[in-house]
This record gives sequence, structure tokens and C-alpha cells, in this order.
Amino acid sequence: MNSQSKPHILFTREEVEATVKKLAAEIGKDYQGKCPLLIGILKGSFVFMADLIRLLDLPLEVEFITLSSYGKGKESSGKIRVVKGLRAPIKGRDVLVIEDIVDTGLTISFLLDYLRKKKPASLKLCALTDKPSRRQIPVTIDYLGFTVPNKFIVGYGIDWDEKFRYLPDICFVEVED
Ligand code: PRP
Repeated sequence: MNSQSKPHILFTREEVEATVKKLAAEIGKDYQGKCPLLIGILKGSFVFMADLIRLLDLPLEVEFITLSSYGKGKESSGKIRVVKGLRAPIKGRDVLVIEDIVDTGLTISFLLDYLRKKKPASLKLCALTDKPSRRQIPVTIDYLGFTVPNKFIVGYGIDWDEKFRYLPDICFVEVED
């Protein structure tokens, strides 16, 4: 793929907004009376996280963790690393992980195992998009925005080789080998 590849809209910004509102309503209801810790996986989750938390009327806290799985390409290396970890303990906390896309499931499975060992009171996953056709490890997504086809998804925080994160719609690009 070259940098001139044109993104095609899969879900418009209006559809994204409506879906994020729907997710916030579900999460707000389930975490009523609690003070959840939302952990976003960088970089992809930053746009989704920013919109989601402003729709949640909860005394929540936010953390970010940086993992690396893809490097500079479109295929996962399969080797997940914590590049930048958590700054505070999560023991006894109600943790909700915020992810932009679940593809093979390798990244989120690694992270959920990593977090579970730190003994949170509860651990759930909210994913903006899910690409089940690519799954290698089963993943339970507690709050899901969109199921996406087996195309290269970009926009609303999601990149291809660090490009297209700024697009306000969820798009796909054609990738030529
Ligand atoms: C992407 C995405 C997920 C992961 C999903 O992250 O944000 O974290 O890949 O893929 P998987 O289910 O096949 O593991 P990436 O490593 O590209 O980093 P980024 O969030 O900085 O874009």
C-alpha cells in the first residue's frame, strides 16, 4: 500500500457517535456506585477513550498502557511486549480495559492475563471494533461497538503504519501486497 491509498468509510462519524453513546449508557448502568479504572491501550484507544469518558457520569479514573505487537507493518508479530506499564496498583479495583480493535486476540489476551495477575476486583473489556474472522485466541468482549469485516481498518485512532489515526470516521483501506 502506498501513502496515497484512499480510505473508504465503513462507519460514519455519526454512527460512531451513536455507538459510543450506547456503550457509555451500558457501562454507566453496570458501574453505577463504583469508581472504575479505565485502562486504555495506546496508541489506538486514545480517541475512543477520550469520547467515551466524557459520556460517563461516573467518578472514574484513567490509566494508559503501551503494548507493542505490530511494529511497522500490517501483520502481528505475535510477540507482545509492555512498552510502558501502569503507574499505580490495580489490586481491588474495578478495571475496564478500553481497546480500539480486537483482531487475532493476541494483544488483549496477553493484557488481560497480565492484569488478572495483579488481582483487580473485576476485569472487563470494552472494544470499539472486533474482527472475529482473524481470531487466533478466544476473547470475551463485554462491551462491543462494531463487528468489522476482514479489511484493514483505520481512523478514529486506528492506524495503518501510523497513518490515518486522525480520520473521524471508521474506514478501511485496500492493502496491496
Ligand atoms: C493494534 C490494536 C490492538 C492490536 C489488535 O495495536 O490497537 O491493540 O493491534 O491486534 P491483535 O488482536 O491481533 O493482537 P498496535 O500494536 O498496532 O499498536 P497501536 O495501538 O499503537 O496502533
